[in-house]
Amino acid sequence: MQVSKLRLVVAGVAASICAFSISASESLVETGEQQAAVCKACHQVTPDGIAIVGPPLWGIAERNIASFPGFGYSDALKAQSGSWDEASLDAFLASPSTFAPGTNMVFPGVENPDARKAIIAWLATKNDIPANWYASESAVEVKPLGDGILVPDDNMALVAASCSSCHSLHLVVQQGLSKESWDETLEWMVDEQGMDPLEPEDHEKVLVYLATHYGD
Ligand code: HEC
Ligand code: HEC
Repeated sequence: MQVSKLRLVVAGVAASICAFSISASESLVETGEQQAAVCKACHQVTPDGIAIVGPPLWGIAERNIASFPGFGYSDALKAQSGSWDEASLDAFLASPSTFAPGTNMVFPGVENPDARKAIIAWLATKNDIPANWYASESAVEVKPLGDGILVPDDNMALVAASCSSCHSLHLVVQQGLSKESWDETLEWMVDEQGMDPLEPEDHEKVLVYLATHYGD
């Protein structure tokens, strides 16, 4: 398994500044929800959420770090003290393995500070009593996930959300494979790399996208 090597070479989830401006705090949360699609591969965010790969994130604003009952946290995360707030979440999401070296959150991180801000503002709403995180911030300008790396089309967002949780999308775009070989690659990702199988309909859309833009 070369995840640690991958961590070194990946550029993080792609998200950078674009031309148009969003200017309500509601939009900040909305942007955050889009950017957080990738988190949902490993985290549930509903009030009755349970642990999947990662602990559920509902109520994160009222929680001490590494304190969801019964979840098997790494020693690295358990060694952190305090509770989650804007600053600790910002540092953790920028680079999980820098914040807590040895963390089990195998995720390259979110490079763009505005994308992190939006994700954190969105997380604030996932609480019985929503937290006040970035409440006074309004305008952020963030490209959709995958923009600037993946070829834009209707299914770009789906592919970005499905394929950027463990490694950079650059690993995807450097390939050129037939639809059949992409199917085998995805099967291998599920069988050997711990990826959750996609819904059949999404699986087909992802395959068509990959074979169309990154075909042989
Ligand atoms: C590939 C799976 C994966 C992805 C993708 C992922 N996480 Fe995690 N996350 C985990 C795991 C596993 C842990 C527990 C880490 C540990 O114990 O070291 C964790 C821990 C956390 C924690 C600490 C929770 C606590 O109870 O202290 C937060 C907050 C968090 N993740 C937020 C996010 C956000 C926000 C995203 C998306 C930007 C994200 N994660 C993406 C797997 C993932
Ligand atoms: C649950 C984690 C996970 C997810 C989600 C994931 N991958 Fe991967 N993928 C990996 C790991 C780990 C490797 C590197 C394995 C290695 O180097 O041995 C990898 C490697 C790859 C490679 C390089 C294969 C090679 O022969 O070098 C490609 C291409 C790839 N992934 C495409 C995708 C695509 C497309 C998606 C989305 C449909 C995806 N991955 C989603 C974990 C994942």
